[in-house]
Amino acid sequence: MNGEDILALDERYVLHTYARAPFVVERGQGLYVYDTDGKRYLDFVSGIAVNALGYGDHDILEALQAQAGKLMHISNLYCSAPQAQLAQQLVQASGFADKVFLCNSGTEAVEAAIKFSRKCYSQSGVANRTEILAFTDGFHGRTLGALALTPRAHYQDPFRPLMPGAKIASFNDLDAASKLLDENTCACIVEPLQGEGGVNIADEQFLRGLRSLCSERGILLIFDEVQCGLGRTGTLWAHQPYGVSPDMMTLAKPLGGGLPIGATLVNAQVAAAIQPGDHGSTFAANPVICATAQVVLAKLSQPDLLAHVNAQGRYLEQKLNVLQAKFKSIKSVRGRGLIWGVEFDDDIAPIIASAYANGLLTCKAGAKVLRLLPPLVADQQAIDEAAGILDKCLTEVNGKGQCCGR
Ligand SMILES: Cc1ncc(COP(=O)(O)O)c(C=O)c1O
Repeated sequence: MNGEDILALDERYVLHTYARAPFVVERGQGLYVYDTDGKRYLDFVSGIAVNALGYGDHDILEALQAQAGKLMHISNLYCSAPQAQLAQQLVQASGFADKVFLCNSGTEAVEAAIKFSRKCYSQSGVANRTEILAFTDGFHGRTLGALALTPRAHYQDPFRPLMPGAKIASFNDLDAASKLLDENTCACIVEPLQGEGGVNIADEQFLRGLRSLCSERGILLIFDEVQCGLGRTGTLWAHQPYGVSPDMMTLAKPLGGGLPIGATLVNAQVAAAIQPGDHGSTFAANPVICATAQVVLAKLSQPDLLAHVNAQGRYLEQKLNVLQAKFKSIKSVRGRGLIWGVEFDDDIAPIIASAYANGLLTCKAGAKVLRLLPPLVADQQAIDEAAGILDKCLTEVNGKGQCCGR
């Protein structure tokens, strides 16, 4: 089947909840993917922040194949070594957690955190603490609980009523948060660096202030590190530079090396409130994925890898600053490590399309923010190539009058 036939089949039979790129990806190698025509694309999306180690990592493949030959699935009615070992490694790496709930996606990790927050209070007889505070431009997933904490009209409005008890304050506005963190609140969820919402970095005073307010008022603080965690920002956890810890942390995306897994890390207080029967999932903690995730976690925890992310991040920032100086349509450049947002003054769809044509994958974080999420193993040569392609695309797009440049 050629690319055209596959696209036609997809159009006819797949229920489209995503806008698709106009080509079919066939394989990946290193930092590149190849379409069915053999065209090569430098990947600065990484399967939406998943393929941190690029494509074809030998250690990932080895772990996956070894475990697949032993035991592919067993369910949570039984213990398996990969699950227990991964949980231990996550707890030890976290610096705050006591136990881990494993699931299949970021959204599920958030849903678990919502339920655990409520259970923490309901089991001790505090019936009124059911509300959860989240923030503007946050993204926590698309199921009805996580969606209630993801305040974007386009995502929410067609699906109301959502989970009751969601409250929203402006991101980085501690006073607004303080007013809503009241005696009815069981938890507050925040991304230390917002990915989908535009690559927005939490202010130091804001994140530290939230920690203090939640501690003073007996409210659980959840850091959603599904996108920004596991090395993406240059530290293993995005919250590390702030010097504060959460009570719960959600993870997913890169953890499974491309296979679906989510994790909700909980402190001892939360762990003590959860009993068998409170939550579950048939597929969660799949042995093959847990074995693979151990390799991924070990690799992403390496100081050398994290130093590489920081160094390449600074290099990418310089390159983006050069583009900003050249193209007036760029309003701001922001990010940390290897997650960067380039904000334009107009819809960026033509830029993404031009990048496809020129062999570069990029994605959106809102209509006007181009998001760059290269594999964490991306090197200077790849960044030079990406910056060169972006320069070309912006020149082309500006030339067509779709975005205004100098
Ligand atoms: C911060 C954050 N939380 C939760 C999610 C949902 O994760 P998933 O798509 O794996 O369900 C995402 C996905 O982009 C995310 O960025």
